[in-house]
Amino acid sequence: MERSRKLRIGVLGAGQISQAAHFEACRKAKNAELYAICDVAHDLLERVAAIHAPRKAYGDYDAMLADPDVDAVIIAVADQFHVPMALKALEAGKHVLVEKPMGVTVEECERLRDAAGASRPVVQVGTEKRFDEGIAFARDFIRDEMGEMIALKAWYCDSTRRYTMTDALQPVIEASERARRPEGDPKSDLKRYYVLGHASHLLDTARFLGGEIETIRTRLVEKFGAYCWFSEVEFAEGSVGHLDLTIKVRMDWHEGFQIYGEHGSVIGKTYNPWFFKCSDVECFSERNGQYHRPLGADGHFFRRQVEGFAETILDDAPMRGANAEDGLAAMRGMVAMARSAETGEAVKLSEVEGGV
Ligand SMILES: NC(=O)c1ccc[n+]([C@@H]2O[C@H](COP(=O)([O-])OP(=O)(O)OC[C@H]3O[C@@H](n4cnc5c(N)ncnc54)[C@H](O)[C@@H]3O)[C@@H](O)[C@H]2O)c1
Repeated sequence: MERSRKLRIGVLGAGQISQAAHFEACRKAKNAELYAICDVAHDLLERVAAIHAPRKAYGDYDAMLADPDVDAVIIAVADQFHVPMALKALEAGKHVLVEKPMGVTVEECERLRDAAGASRPVVQVGTEKRFDEGIAFARDFIRDEMGEMIALKAWYCDSTRRYTMTDALQPVIEASERARRPEGDPKSDLKRYYVLGHASHLLDTARFLGGEIETIRTRLVEKFGAYCWFSEVEFAEGSVGHLDLTIKVRMDWHEGFQIYGEHGSVIGKTYNPWFFKCSDVECFSERNGQYHRPLGADGHFFRRQVEGFAETILDDAPMRGANAEDGLAAMRGMVAMARSAETGEAVKLSEVEGGV
């Protein structure tokens, strides 16, 4: 594909995340174009198309996939639809950026990983935190300077004040009675809903910084309508980890990580994504006795994610986002957390089956 051309993206789903992130991300990306939007809810489609002016608006996904000018799709529909919609796109020869979690069961994620193949078409999972310059700086420091890791702690704690904050930051979100949703109410099982929605980020960040996770032992405590998953994890290289998923904390959004290594250490504070502010990260290097603190000036993780996706497709650049293996590993981690919370036993990620 010649480089002068922009990647033509069709976005499936005109719901909350597309309106808050993907449409703008595609429009602002230097190497991509919001070429098409697809949603079965015609009234919603009409309203968002009037705002974002894609070249095409489709009410039918198959019709969008049949459009030869669509190079790639962003799949921004309910979790249960991710894998079937991604498989269809691959069959149609389109590259795929699928929202997190990659799917809802280990087996369907394996199917998508297998269909993704080695490199083409590209399949990337929408864990946009990998495009947070602070987190990326931490990862480079860990890989290039820190030496062996002994321990990692990471926390992701949604706040009771979250919507007060995000309502002030996000655009007005258009909604429709005709929007297609999976059967049943996903929020009827809040534990499952929270693990799929939030542990997908926590596990991906922990793996991005700390490497492969082999086992998880989780304790879940429920009190006063809050849920706390404390997980002890073992990394493949023999280091230990602690993951804290607490929803909702009675305080500000609380997310971050701390890593101890042979020649240095890392501490990071991550903001609620809708502030579009990169993590504050400090890396201490034992070699020169100095702290290193990047300025992550560009906090549009979603736009950076689309640009990274387009670079991988247009320029053969290495993928900076999560690939299908990473999406599958996060799914295994979520299932392991859920199983371990039920039994109290440590669970090997390689042995889990089914869903959360
Ligand atoms: N990366 C993040 O930080 C982040 C944040 C929020 C949500 N998400 C993820 O984004 C995904 C979407 O969430 P949402 O809140 O925007 O969902 P939503 O339900 O608000 O919107 C989905 C839209 O897709 C449409 N749709 C569904 N199936 C369709 C089909 N086959 N053809 C055409 N249109 C179809 C629906 O009509 C609906 O308008 C979820 O998987 C969620 O986990 C990710």
